[in-house]
Amino acid sequence: LRIAVLFGGRSAEHDVSVLSATNVMRALEPEKYDAVPVFITREGQWLLSSFTDGTLAKPSGGTEVCLVPGGKGRMLAVPADGAPYALPEIAILFPVLHGLHGEDGAVQGLAEVARVPLVGCGILGSATALDKDIAKRLLNEAGVPTARSATIHHGAAPAFAELEHALGLPLFVKPARQGSSVGVSKVATERDYAAALEEGFKHDGKLIAEEFIRGREIELSVLEDTEGGLFVSRPGEIVPAESHGFYSYDAKYIDEQGAALKVPAELPEEVEADIRAVAAKAFRAVGCDGMARVDFFLTPDMRFLVNELNTIPGFTDISMYSKAMAASGVGYAEVIDRLVAHGLA
Ligand code: DAL
Ligand code: MG
Repeated sequence: LRIAVLFGGRSAEHDVSVLSATNVMRALEPEKYDAVPVFITREGQWLLSSFTDGTLAKPSGGTEVCLVPGGKGRMLAVPADGAPYALPEIAILFPVLHGLHGEDGAVQGLAEVARVPLVGCGILGSATALDKDIAKRLLNEAGVPTARSATIHHGAAPAFAELEHALGLPLFVKPARQGSSVGVSKVATERDYAAALEEGFKHDGKLIAEEFIRGREIELSVLEDTEGGLFVSRPGEIVPAESHGFYSYDAKYIDEQGAALKVPAELPEEVEADIRAVAAKAFRAVGCDGMARVDFFLTPDMRFLVNELNTIPGFTDISMYSKAMAASGVGYAEVIDRLVAHGLA
């Protein structure tokens, strides 16, 4: 089965995507899959890549690749100097892209236009899940609790005192459409707030301010089967190192001691059952299909709130999606087989 793996991309999570895709390539069993990696540069150009000795090539030029509209998997290669030629048709597209332009419905729409099956979530669920402001509205409407927040539009930021009154201190300011904690700041003072707005607006024209939840970070993996049923994994827990304050980009990917994963998380049985049910409800509420990782905060009095859903969760060595699935009896290769089967169904 020929599968195109898209990686890299225009978002701030470009490097994370490279790590994720490397693991996905390693897990694609060669007797089942003929994988063609396609590198997307930070500018958005699609280039033919290769996978040798466990490493993905990140070319800076060379052969461009395109997916033919309505072509049902036909792909063309366009060499820098030479005539375009047809590549073998692909059976399915696997975007291993995080954040904007990859996890937000854009590439999912392209798959629809090309009429090629897609691994993971479709257009609507991708778009709504990636926008924390929209996702929260849908979750709240479905009765799924989330942290209190306010939406901040560029040029119309509320006064610090107003947010302090509504959300308490400290609070978090986050870009509405970013992942991996890029552009997120913890705010305790008016001066922090000004800096947080400046930083946040570098990444997005819309931010959210959110109350600080003193709690544990619990994550669950959801995988839809070919009949539309949901498999919800056992919960895993992120334990950030004291030194990092919160599960920041550095704690995630730069500092190897930045955080520890505890899978399964130690939770009372009834809390685990409830949280798994709410993960499924959140998945449906936001309009997801295929897969998502649902991230929760769990307060000391065992109240849990949904933080966010990631429709293309990290597949890096330190990422939870595959670890939580493995702790639930579904190994990495099996996760990929199920995702592909879902996409082809
Ligand atoms: N956005 C990163 C990749 C994650 O949620 O795992
Ligand atoms: Mg995320």
